[in-house]
Amino acid sequence: MSSGSAGGRRRLPLSLRRRAVPWDRQGPTWREARPAVIAAALKRAQARPSGNWYVVGDSRDLRDDRPLARTVAGQEVVLWRNADGRPVAGPGICPHLGAPLRDSPVRCGTLVCHWHGLALDGGTFAGWEPFPVHDDGVLLWVRLDAAGGEAPLDAPVVPARPERALTAVYTGVGTCEPEDVVANRLDPWHGAWFHPYSFVDLTVAGAPDGSDGSADVFTVDVSFKVAGRLVVPVRAEFTAPEPRTVVMRITEGEGAGSVVESHATPLGTDGRGRPRTAVVEAVVAASGRPGFALARGAAPLLRPLVRAAAGRLWRDDLAYAERRWSLRSTGRFPG
Ligand code: FES
Ligand SMILES: [Fe+2]
Repeated sequence: MSSGSAGGRRRLPLSLRRRAVPWDRQGPTWREARPAVIAAALKRAQARPSGNWYVVGDSRDLRDDRPLARTVAGQEVVLWRNADGRPVAGPGICPHLGAPLRDSPVRCGTLVCHWHGLALDGGTFAGWEPFPVHDDGVLLWVRLDAAGGEAPLDAPVVPARPERALTAVYTGVGTCEPEDVVANRLDPWHGAWFHPYSFVDLTVAGAPDGSDGSADVFTVDVSFKVAGRLVVPVRAEFTAPEPRTVVMRITEGEGAGSVVESHATPLGTDGRGRPRTAVVEAVVAASGRPGFALARGAAPLLRPLVRAAAGRLWRDDLAYAERRWSLRSTGRFPG
């Protein structure tokens, strides 16, 4: 049932679930969630080019007074804005005696090493070679050709996004590899079982069979839980445009055109030699609804809420990814 009215007025997005099925009475999805289908979709994703681009983080975190520092694929990376305001990136190890450039300040677009004052303006200097960097307006990417080992691309594979959207970026870290994160996102069947606080009434309307010419997309009908029996029903499509990205695009219902991009970035290994992977998730929300412009204006207030919702889901999804890595790295992976 829709709470909207007919007669030309826009229907409100909320629905009241007519029959609230308790969690343990919903239909099991495990028979449909065939490990071979998920594994094949993952394999196809891994075969797509990334051009050696890795998501580093939120564009809004790039500052002009100190660098943004991340370890990506085992390499220390620093990013900052140069004198022209353009993003630059390069190794986070000072070419003089190895100081951690993550702790060095940026002055007038120049990164000044705090050990002996070597100054980097973003160009090649004293053996320090910049990395290609890309700011897509929401996320920052660096290209690490040695780590990626693929043919480089001039720009990363950035999903199509709605214009005039509300954006929020969440970052979480887990003990797993990027493929474990991607495999989790290519299993839409777990939604209402594993995340009952967020999703109900989930049906996978289509899953790719890998045959030539068929769209490589999972189509999912699901309702986002708002409160009690109030839900927002949508249709969403999941695709993997490159090996470390899964995109969920809402195609019908409230917020159609909105995307949630989940990017998995390998960080390196921890003290015990286990892989660490960051999930950088960008929510790019659009709505044709009057009042959404107002919501965009309130973005600084809304962003923490969006991040909190993503954080709750990713606490569970990273546990899934970590479990998957743990099992497969010890030869106990089922299927
Ligand atoms: S270590 Fe950076 S200037 Fe000496
Ligand atoms: Fe999930």
